[in-house]
Amino acid sequence: MKNSLTVGDSPQLVAGRFNVLIVYFSATGNTAKIAQAAETRFKELGADVTTYDITSCAGRRKEIDFEPYQAVVFGAPIYSCRAPRVMREWLKTLDGQRKKASIFFTYGGFGVHPAHYSTRQILEERAFIVVSSAEFLGAHTFNLGGWRAMEGRPDASDFEMAKQYVDITYKRFTGEDDEILGELEATERTEEQLDAMEKFRFTVLTQFPTRDGEECSMCLVCEEICPGGAMDAASGKVDGGKCIACLACVANCPDNVLKINDMSASWLRKLEMEQETRESIQAKKSRIYV
Ligand SMILES: Cc1cc2nc3c(=O)[nH]c(=O)nc-3n(C[C@H](O)[C@H](O)[C@H](O)COP(=O)(O)O)c2cc1C
Ligand code: SF4
Ligand code: SF4
Repeated sequence: MKNSLTVGDSPQLVAGRFNVLIVYFSATGNTAKIAQAAETRFKELGADVTTYDITSCAGRRKEIDFEPYQAVVFGAPIYSCRAPRVMREWLKTLDGQRKKASIFFTYGGFGVHPAHYSTRQILEERAFIVVSSAEFLGAHTFNLGGWRAMEGRPDASDFEMAKQYVDITYKRFTGEDDEILGELEATERTEEQLDAMEKFRFTVLTQFPTRDGEECSMCLVCEEICPGGAMDAASGKVDGGKCIACLACVANCPDNVLKINDMSASWLRKLEMEQETRESIQAKKSRIYV
């Protein structure tokens, strides 16, 4: 267990200030955008803020010292109704030291629960006190392969909700509001059933990202960013046993040479399965849980 964690490039934290740490996982940038909006708002309210990206394996290997922070915000995309497995495993190594914490997710307009409930459960087991949670709409990762879910999100309405989320959360962090997060929607699904749901991604991503013989500038970004440690930049090949289908490599390749299969047919199947239309999905709103 990591008891003494230190963010490597720690900022100059000023004694006596209210220090908030925002830790986030973001494969394709939506969660990072909300983290950035939250940082801006916390600062407007007078807090000092440090953000830390745990998307890559290297990011999760680095130790974080929670000591200087009064409160911690955890941001994640929803993957099959939970936080990404690699992030859940990382959270289970932390020592919350009875610090106040908050959770936020971005998601593509489909399943949400039990993400809030299960992440809160992990954080409370690690001795954090969870005071709030929120979900924000974001373009679905699989839009990179032809889905059309939540295009253009997060948008102004989502960022406005992020501001309200920070206003509520900051009051709870500082003790101006001494409430903590109320009861959340659990699930009747077992861990095994939730684990089985994770396999759905590979009925959608049927061809792992590949350069398919194309030349590239060999910047190594795809390998460095890969949260599963699955990408080998030199060969352009992916270890299918480690790939979590996050598409960070595809989204971040500067040469745009990493290709996946066309997912358009699975988009139509998904809408039918969920009894949704593109319009009904698009009409969903970001939400705060208190
Ligand atoms: C493997 C995988 C599983 C996903 N599962 C869900 C899901 O259960 N419900 C949902 O609405 N969106 C789901 N999404 C979409 C992401 O939650 C959404 O696009 C999110 O904003 C991505 O965040 P990021 O850009 O920070 O990586 C999934 C995406 C991936 C890659
Ligand atoms: S990110 Fe793209 S350009 Fe960089 S090494 Fe990977 S495939 Fe090549
Ligand atoms: S190889 Fe798989 S796990 Fe790694 S970044 Fe690409 S999609 Fe994500």
